[in-house]
Amino acid sequence: MANMQLHQLQGNLERLKMYRMAEILPEYLKVAVDRKLAHQDFIEGLIEEEITFKTERSIKYKIKRAKFPLIKTLDGFDFSFQTTVSKEKLNELANLSFIDRKENVIFLGPPGVGKTHLAISLGVKACENKYTVMFLTASDLISQLTSSLADRTFQQELKRFAQYKLIIVDEIGYLPIDQVGANLFFQFITSRYEKSSIIITSNKSFSNWGQIFADNVLATAILDRLLHHANIVNIKGESYRLKDRKKELLTQEK
Ligand SMILES: Nc1ncnc2c1ncn2[C@@H]1O[C@H](COP(=O)(O)OP(=O)(O)OP(=O)(O)O)[C@@H](O)[C@H]1O
Ligand SMILES: [Mg+2]
Repeated sequence: MANMQLHQLQGNLERLKMYRMAEILPEYLKVAVDRKLAHQDFIEGLIEEEITFKTERSIKYKIKRAKFPLIKTLDGFDFSFQTTVSKEKLNELANLSFIDRKENVIFLGPPGVGKTHLAISLGVKACENKYTVMFLTASDLISQLTSSLADRTFQQELKRFAQYKLIIVDEIGYLPIDQVGANLFFQFITSRYEKSSIIITSNKSFSNWGQIFADNVLATAILDRLLHHANIVNIKGESYRLKDRKKELLTQEK
């Protein structure tokens, strides 16, 4: 193909936003000649490259938009360390049908047992499967809702959250939530109830949620909605953070 014709073709592909096809076209033409590719195989190969490129780009964008503090995967989770977590249950959750069924997932357990790790793993998996995901801590969520109340954009804020198929609210229970915060959180939960999924991590068992929200009635109403369609993963093991530290201390003692 003449240089000018090639440039024109690349320019047209770029106008059609087929950037990957435009980029690899010169190399691909050479390969096609060397390997005597049939026309159909040639065009199929080019299109597949573009699809792979666009899919990967969209996943990357979704992961970036989700604002995970770190990337964690189920493959990176040592189930033999945390024996109270069922690998089968997590694998089943990782097929993400809970999102289609608009169910919630709640990870409960003491510090360091992998609640956030598992929540992020499911979130990343959801991004890879084209769901829109948002990750935030309970205190960030409540401060965002509180400021939206102050500038009268609360309903807009709820609509913004509604665009996400999955919202992960991390660390419910570490910081106390005041009456206004509890009220806003209740409205947030109600706005997603039976419409879209939430993953929650908490160090506090449900019977202690009255303390977190400083209001037993609200806590009960929140739990009632959250738990109606929920998958609960109760982790009872030891902190993974202390695993190596403990080993260190034990060898020092010897
Ligand atoms: N079973 C595990 N296999 C591999 N890494 C793990 C496991 N459990 C926890 N971790 C790692 O240990 C660290 C602490 O885990 P994580 O942050 O998920 O704990 P957490 O239950 O959310 O604790 P906290 O309640 O303090 O927030 C992370 O780096 C996480 O990746
Ligand atoms: Mg955590």
